[in-house]
Amino acid sequence: MVGGGQGAYIGNIHRLASRLDGHWTLVAGAFDVDPDRGREFALNEGLDPARSYGTYQDLIAGERGREDRVDAVAICTPNFTHYPIAKALIEAGFDVICEKPLTATIEDAIALEALSRQSGRFVGVTYTYSGYPMVHEARVRIARGEIGDVRTVQVEYPLEWMATAIEQKGNIQAAWRTDPKKNGRGGSIGDIGTHAYHLAGFVTGLTLETLTADLATFVPGRALDDNAHVMMRYEGGARGLLWSSQVALGNSNGVRLRVFGSTGSFQWFQEQPNELIYTPLDGRVQTIKRGADDLSEDAKVRSRTPPGHPEGYLEAFANLYCGFAEAIRARLDEREPTSIGRNIPLTYDGLKGVAFVEAVVDSAEGGNAGWVTPIAV
Ligand code: NAI
Repeated sequence: MVGGGQGAYIGNIHRLASRLDGHWTLVAGAFDVDPDRGREFALNEGLDPARSYGTYQDLIAGERGREDRVDAVAICTPNFTHYPIAKALIEAGFDVICEKPLTATIEDAIALEALSRQSGRFVGVTYTYSGYPMVHEARVRIARGEIGDVRTVQVEYPLEWMATAIEQKGNIQAAWRTDPKKNGRGGSIGDIGTHAYHLAGFVTGLTLETLTADLATFVPGRALDDNAHVMMRYEGGARGLLWSSQVALGNSNGVRLRVFGSTGSFQWFQEQPNELIYTPLDGRVQTIKRGADDLSEDAKVRSRTPPGHPEGYLEAFANLYCGFAEAIRARLDEREPTSIGRNIPLTYDGLKGVAFVEAVVDSAEGGNAGWVTPIAV
């Protein structure tokens, strides 16, 4: 692992989730931007002192010569470091698991996607919400035509933790997220809008054609958007509306997806992740539960407990790690991956996310392009 050291957020989730199913063992790391602190963290995690590195460059130099070298490296650092770290790892022959957004700039995303394709290295991107079994269930059922033609997609990711200027009060996560050089051009839209955008496209199978966006910065002194509304037109005519917000009081991690088709709809809310709400044309609302016997293979292989025993965020994250392990093993064995190793987020999905952010910011900065003000009546 690179990043995810003392006081960091997502690194610990990676450690917990990667261990859940026994496919991964953490054996080496450069966990911190401060080399001494990183080595100390590694030792406290119980790692071999010889594999407790100060920098990612040391990790690469130390691991590439070992017979038992690491199979893959998870990058859990702020956005602007993803590209240089991933590039160095790929060039040294390592597979990579990279946090989202894939990179801080579109140039880096294009270069990284090309590098992973040309090198044949695996690059998995941790779009967490595509790890949930009921998200897969919705995807399979929509592909089967259970709600007819998709007409409208409503997706939102509201958060509340940045409703005040905590970046000015020593919050390390908010500090880099509000710095355009470290975060990238899109504030809330890059941080969480990318999750929502991926989720909507993943479940519906729709491809974005065009968008118009309105970005706002509500917290005084903040350099990037903390609230975004994006209207989307998908190929084939479906419409989408995406809301991301870091200032939506009352919402801890309120990811919500609603997909309305010509013969029915599906709704999925992250805070009730074991349920998928289905409404057919006759209006009789049904709750489809994780763990039920008649679910798709894609949902079943991502489930561990019977219905009623809840699974959640860590299991969804663990499902991504299972998928990444299976995809890498399948490549080594020269076979097709089993279903858990398919439909997993890869570099191209990461690139599409960064391209989405670029389009959103371009639209918003373009002076309300596409918007029309009604005449006064
Ligand atoms: P954080 O600020 O809590 O942690 C970053 C860690 O990286 C720190 O330990 C820092 O010392 C380390 N670091 C920075 N530069 C480094 C370098 N050159 N070498 C080694 N370590 C270095 O950040 P947080 O919130 O954990 O976010 C990290 C990444 O994860 C971001 O890209 C973020 O967008 C993503 N993320 C993804 C989530 C998901 O749901 N998949 C949720 C939260 C964050």
